[in-house]
Order: sequence, then structure tokens, then C-alpha cells
Amino acid sequence: MYSNFEFYAPTKIVFGKGAEENAGKMVKAFGGTRVLIHYGSQSALRSGLIGRVQQSLDAEGLYHVELGGVVPNPHLGKVYEGIELGRKEGIDFILAVGGGSVIDSSKTIALGLANPEDDVWDYYIGKKTTNKSLPIGCILTLAAAGSEMSGGAVITNEKNGLKRDYGADCMRARFSLLNPELTMTLPAYQTGCGVADILMHTMERFFNLCDNMEMTDRISVTLMRNVMKYAKVLMKEPDNYKARAEIMWAGTLSHNDLTGCGCAGGDWATHNMEHEMGGMFDVAHGAGLAAIWGSWARYVYKAAPERFVKFALEVMGVMPGDHDEDTIESGIQAMERFYHQIGMPVNMRELGIKPTEEQIAFMAASCEEKAGGANGQVIPLKKEDMEEIYRMAL
Ligand code: NZQ
Ligand code: ZN
Repeated sequence: MYSNFEFYAPTKIVFGKGAEENAGKMVKAFGGTRVLIHYGSQSALRSGLIGRVQQSLDAEGLYHVELGGVVPNPHLGKVYEGIELGRKEGIDFILAVGGGSVIDSSKTIALGLANPEDDVWDYYIGKKTTNKSLPIGCILTLAAAGSEMSGGAVITNEKNGLKRDYGADCMRARFSLLNPELTMTLPAYQTGCGVADILMHTMERFFNLCDNMEMTDRISVTLMRNVMKYAKVLMKEPDNYKARAEIMWAGTLSHNDLTGCGCAGGDWATHNMEHEMGGMFDVAHGAGLAAIWGSWARYVYKAAPERFVKFALEVMGVMPGDHDEDTIESGIQAMERFYHQIGMPVNMRELGIKPTEEQIAFMAASCEEKAGGANGQVIPLKKEDMEEIYRMAL
């Protein structure tokens, strides 16, 4: 039997060259009057994007204040700063200009402003929930996290190194403006990290124990093949508009739940285990995923061999081996070869980290505690399983 599902994707997408020029009009259409423009460290200022966004808001007579300085693996401290500024300024709309980190920081500020009685960190550690948020809009500069159309955010509490996620429908952006040209200034490494994350958002959903819908599978397979095809183009031609556009749209569709319809939520153990690495070592999310995915796959494949065979044959395009196990291993190796082609690591050594046994035990325990038990669908992983996967990935 197919598993039942809900699909809710209310974000208005404006896609293509010059999409960001619609910022002022879109904020106005969604009821914003006093806007917080939130951005990262350098790139959006350097490219002149922030200036153009300000002009677009000015043209609609919208009041705005700016808060930059969001770092990758965005910090809770910056969120608190945004909430304080937002209160002081009577902000009623947040405009995120950046990648996943800026969007997630914006989503969390929006929660804080709509729920003045709560500490937003309580949502992330599972103490509280909410269905209230200020509206947010996004101007995306990095195709990766999919936060521009997802219902969640991931925040790092820099005081204790815990990286945690929270999701609610109220957090979905009202609109996202997607101009592929804005991603042309990305360093190759960030493009690679983005590609790894985009693929992983569909892979997390693809590897499951469900009776998968053919429709969803076909969308997923096409998405993953397309991403790999155009990622290779981008490694040689970073200014190729067509390739940037294909990757950007795939990034949004990969995490708006479309590829998860009928898979009972998917697996997500790789993501959860990577978030522990991000919290402890501040590694780039996509690179962290690439570094442990192969170890996760080799640890769990026996519980869902037909999904791994399908992945090997249809996504990675390998020749079938004599036994399913050979086909599966060829599929995993083909993905690892692809990671290398886009400058991604396939283990923690290549990622540049070397967790001690103590750190491995801490990450696995923290991951289990966060899940309130086992992690993942293919094999529900206990602490000891996750420790073993981390060790395999060293
Ligand atoms: O801060 P600036 O100077 O802008 O530099 C950023 C940053 O250093 C740079 N960058 C962004 N756009 C650029 C650019 N550099 C040149 N040109 C541009 N156009 O890229 C660096 C990384 O940015 P970041 O936003 O951290 O990357 P990404 O979009 O990959 O987001 C990663 C975060 O999203 C979370 C991850 O865990 C991580 O914290 N995720 C959020 C999800 C969600 N909300 O649904 C799901 C994901 O699975 C993920 O966990
Ligand atoms: Zn991700």
C-alpha cells in the first residue's frame, strides 16, 4: 500500500533573470510595510545586491532596516539580535537575501517577533511549538538548502555547539525570488556543497521502506540525474546560465517535499548525523553530507536492497553486477566518484576533521537524544550504530 501524505507548498516563486527586482512589489503584495533586510557576511553587499533590493523597496515607499552578519551554520545570537532590532523598529516583514543560513536565521527571527513570550531556542530543542510567524520573503543567492520553499530552519546555538532544526507550516516563505545569475559569484566549493545538499534532499526521501509511488520515483530519478548532469557543466563553466538555472530549480523542488510524496517522511539519518558534525566542527553542510553518506549507505543497504539497486541502475547508471550487492556497491562508488568530480569529500579526512572517540560518542548520543530514540527509516539507528558509521567515515 502507498503511504498517505500531505503536500503543502504555498510559496510563490518568481524565477529568472532580474527576479530580485520584484522585491518591493512582492513585499507590498504580501502586506509588509516595515521590513528587516537580513543578509550574510560579504557576498550580497559586494555584488551590489543589497543596494538594488533597498532601491526596490524604496520605489514602493517601504520602510526598511538592515541586519547583516549571518554566518554559515547560523548562530542563535544573531537571531536574538534580529528579534531585538525587529521589536525596536516595529518590523512586520523579514526579507532574507542569501543562502540557507540567512533564510533560516530570518525564519527564526520571524518566529521570535510573532511570539514575544517565547524563547525561540525552545522550539529547536523540542520544548515548545508554535503556529505563528511573521511573514518572510527570500531572495536566493545559493542553490542548496532549499529553505526558500521548505517549512523548516536549522540554527546553531554557538554557546553549546548544538545544531538543531524546527519546522512548522507558518515558517514557509510567502515568496522566493530565484535569479540563477545571482549564483554565478559562488566559489566552486560552495557550488559543490550546494549540489551535494540538493541531491541529498531527494536521496533522504528516496531511501525508505515504503511501497513507493512510481510518479514520485520518476520525479526523483530525473531530478537527481539532472542535477549531476548540470553540476558537471558548472565545474567547467560557472557562468553557464542554463546550468545555474537547472540546479537552482532542482534545489527548490528537492526540498519542498515534492520528492517525498508517499515515502512516510524518508530517512534523514545522514542529515541528522551531519548536523552534529556541523554543530561541533562548523563544516559546510553539503560537504559534511558527502563525507558520511557512503558510510551510511554501506551500513544500511541490506535493509532496503531493492532501493539501492534502483538507485545504482537508474540514478547512477551503472551496469548490473552478478549479485545485487555488487550492483549496490558500484552505485555507491559511482556517487563517491561524482562527489570527487565536484570537489566534495567522501570521508571525514577529506573533509578536514578528525573526531576523537569521545567526540564520536558525543555526536551519536546527541543525535539520539535529539530524535528521542533511533534515527532513520531504512534502519532505525541507535547510538552504537551511528558511532560505527562515524568511525567508518573517518
Ligand atoms: O555570508 P556570505 O558572504 O553571503 O557568504 C556565503 C556563505 O559564506 C556564501 N554565499 C552565498 N551566496 C553567495 C555566496 N558567495 C558568493 N556568491 C553568492 N551568490 O556561501 C556561504 C554559505 O552560505 P550558506 O547560506 O551557509 O549555505 P547554504 O545555502 O548551503 O545553507 C546552509 C545552511 O542551511 C541549513 C544547513 O544545515 C546550513 O546551516 N539547511 C537548511 C535547511 C532548511 N531550512 O530547509 C535544510 C538543509 O538540509 C540544511 O540543513
Ligand atoms: Zn540539507
